[in-house]
Amino acid sequence: MQILDGKLVAQAVKDDLKKKVAALKQAGKKTPHLAAILVGNNGASETYVASKVKTCEEIGYASTLIRFEESVAEATLLKKIQELNDDTEVDGILVQLPLPGQISEEKVINTIVAEKDVDGFHPSNIGKMVQGQPAYIPATPYGILLLLEHYKIETKGKHAVVIGRSNIVGRPMSILLSQNSSTGNCTVTLCHSYTKNLKELCLQADIIVAALGKPEFLTADMVKEGAIVIDVGITRVEDKTKKKGYAIKGDVAYETVAPKCSYITPVPGGVGAMTIAALMQNTYQSVLRQYGG
Ligand code: GUN
Repeated sequence: MQILDGKLVAQAVKDDLKKKVAALKQAGKKTPHLAAILVGNNGASETYVASKVKTCEEIGYASTLIRFEESVAEATLLKKIQELNDDTEVDGILVQLPLPGQISEEKVINTIVAEKDVDGFHPSNIGKMVQGQPAYIPATPYGILLLLEHYKIETKGKHAVVIGRSNIVGRPMSILLSQNSSTGNCTVTLCHSYTKNLKELCLQADIIVAALGKPEFLTADMVKEGAIVIDVGITRVEDKTKKKGYAIKGDVAYETVAPKCSYITPVPGGVGAMTIAALMQNTYQSVLRQYGG
């Protein structure tokens, strides 16, 4: 069993970007600038956004963090997005999800101009991705592809089972794994809460991507010997023995599943780290495009 070390691969991606950004600056070109919007005080969202901003600093990007109260009006948020769309200093915009009930996520995603949609959630980017055209790929699936690529994992002809059909992870992942590309060419089964024979399907899988957000959902009896398991889950579970009062749990019962796998991602230190690296890659891409790259 080999661990797919997201922390290590993310660091390699970030080191590479750091050099590229230094080269941009040296050539008198733009410094990539990511603007992040955080609404409310959701603990997990706070942590993710802080981590994104910190990574910008690490690799030499500029960043702007804009915070709104939980009660912010939709129109106020949309106006701020418009401002960022029009700001030529800003190369990438992300609005951390989920958003409070009074705000339509769909409207928010549609308002971010596609060229700055480094999360890859805009219908234009999704459409291009589906057609295999150059586009921003949502950061978590993109990070997973970078991980598979780094470890030279052959995906061609394999049966991949993706559990979870969210727009952020499961659905784009299923599309990317089925694409005619070096990290695709899988036969993909996309499973969700209405899938009847999930265990049987998982037992047929060469690759399982668990992205349903239920701690330790995937157990050893659902995994065939030698499978590749990618764990996207990062749920906070109360744990009084921890300083913060919670532990982070993946969607995979790691201790018992890992011995059966050829490769597995740990939580933490797996997919989460790669998500941020992929976001940084997309933001760099935004600047390159402005120079015709
Ligand atoms: N919430 C969970 N994952 C993501 C992500 O990749 N981007 C944004 N903006 N919000 C998220």
